[in-house]
Amino acid sequence: MSNKAKIAVFASGVGSNFDAIASACKRGELNAEVLLVVCDKPQAEVVNKAKQYDIECFSFNPKDYASKSDYECEIVARLDALGIELVCLAGYMRIVGDTLLNAYEGRIINIHPSLLPAFRGANAVEQALEYGVKVFGVTIHYVDSSLDGGKIIAQRAFDYEGDSAEEVHRIGHAVEHKLYVETIKKIINR
Ligand code: GRF
Repeated sequence: MSNKAKIAVFASGVGSNFDAIASACKRGELNAEVLLVVCDKPQAEVVNKAKQYDIECFSFNPKDYASKSDYECEIVARLDALGIELVCLAGYMRIVGDTLLNAYEGRIINIHPSLLPAFRGANAVEQALEYGVKVFGVTIHYVDSSLDGGKIIAQRAFDYEGDSAEEVHRIGHAVEHKLYVETIKKIINR
């Protein structure tokens, strides 16, 4: 029997963090397997990435459901069916609702592109540039009902003195990919 931790990754866009996590699993760097990708944008690049890894993907259009609770019920049923132990949000652009939180609270983590509690919500990098900070960073935290306010698990900072959002995203993504894999490793080895 496999003793690998069973992970689901939720994403809405490119999925470079998904890629980093799935590839670390494949290489054996993480004693885990990504069994499910959940995506609220059927056209997103992450859907193709999941296919390339041959990982099951539940992509859905929220508009096809009467409410958040309806689509989250379906998500919970899929997570339960696969015995998912850890949900990693990686660019999932939806607030997690009570249905999913009540079922998986304490087992959902998120990566955010700022040093929380600074610059919560969308466009964190742009907010930080606008503020004029010289130290940027990323945070991994547990997800609760607040906006990017759950307990912090890990943070990593980097210096940047320019004014290009693209550049900060580029540097930040490389930091995210390493930190996400390291953090998942610590959580599943506990
Ligand atoms: C990351 O910057 C993450 O911090 C934020 O969304 C972005 C997702 O990027 N929550 P990707 O889809 O993993 O490339």
